[in-house]
Amino acid sequence: MTSSLSQSRPSRAEGFVHPFLEAAQGRAPARPPVWIMRQAGRYLPDYRRVRKLFPSFLDFCRSPEHVAEVTVQPVDQIGVDAAILFSDILVLLPPMGLHLEFVEGEGPVVRNPVRDAAAIDAMPDRDVNAELNYVFRGIQMTLHDLAGYVPLIGFAGGPFTVASYMVEGGSSKELAKLKGLMFSNPNAYHRLLEKLSAITGAYLCEQIRQGVHAVTIMDSWAGYLSPKDYREFVQPHTRSVIAYVKAQFPNVPVVHYANGAPTLLDDFVKLGVDVVGLDWRVELSRAFKAHPGQVFQGNLDPCYLFSSPEKIAAKVGEMKTEIGNRPHIWNLGHGILPETPVENARAFVQAVHGEL
Ligand code: CP3
Repeated sequence: MTSSLSQSRPSRAEGFVHPFLEAAQGRAPARPPVWIMRQAGRYLPDYRRVRKLFPSFLDFCRSPEHVAEVTVQPVDQIGVDAAILFSDILVLLPPMGLHLEFVEGEGPVVRNPVRDAAAIDAMPDRDVNAELNYVFRGIQMTLHDLAGYVPLIGFAGGPFTVASYMVEGGSSKELAKLKGLMFSNPNAYHRLLEKLSAITGAYLCEQIRQGVHAVTIMDSWAGYLSPKDYREFVQPHTRSVIAYVKAQFPNVPVVHYANGAPTLLDDFVKLGVDVVGLDWRVELSRAFKAHPGQVFQGNLDPCYLFSSPEKIAAKVGEMKTEIGNRPHIWNLGHGILPETPVENARAFVQAVHGEL
């Protein structure tokens, strides 16, 4: 699928190295790279137009042609330096035997949550990748449309975050059921996380085999744990996913992101990923001082995009002073919000590129 917009993409000079990949590999790029978490999403009118074609969000994710279309939209409309595959961290659930639905106004709902050791042990061992062919086809179609213009990022949820939806049965404010299981029956909890880690590692590796240039592990809810509990209950599982991917693809950058977890920054750096995503609560200069050799990603508060292009440019200028000439991947500190004015998302990207 080739959109008319893609015809107007400026051509790349010979030997062009993508700034996103340069920064992810620890080299200072010629131009600072920027992408936006949830960049393919409801703030874009063209996304909403495609979204309307599908009553069910999962059916939308299962249509490779439309996945490719919305994945590429922010590249041509906002000017970001990387595309992230349009999908969801929860697509792993149906192949694991869970009945997942996205309910309007409520978000994800799992009708048969996995709440105890018996349910965990009864989960069938299925070849999850075999049931996610639509994702891999979406990757192929997107790569075809991008034609090398920007890199494509694949992703999966961190095993802890995905487990939270499986155990809670949906989004949750306290993660009381998951943490209840963790503290009352740690063996069963660890068996669930081991299962998820193996599936997640295999899923990310298949995305890379299909051609994604980097992968992100989104462990959005890791910040719900104390550092000690994080180290005991989450870090070993996330590490096993990273080790599995790195053993097969040592040169493919791995990005880690967690929301609301400034207390865990040192532990995230110890995961051994190429890029550590920062949520908007973290002070950049502190992160840089504590971890001079680590490449970070982030971390403008998404609500800054409710101000004006002038204010956004001023804030980006302030961040540039903190970042200096370190390799850094610009992003928001969490996903872009649906009410964000498109011109302000564009202003953020232009300001990072020094075009505003
Ligand atoms: O970033 C991108 O543009 C790629 C697509 C993407 C989506 N979800 C699309 C989506 C990615 C990378 C995700 C990750 C994701 N999904 C996370 C981790 C990142 C984070 O935000 O912390 C989590 C926790 C989920 C689970 C999830 N998916 C929830 C809780 C919801 C409902 C809340 C909401 O935002 O509506 C979703 C639905 C979802 N995933 C939407 C999109 C665009 C909205 C559905 C719609 O358009 O109707």
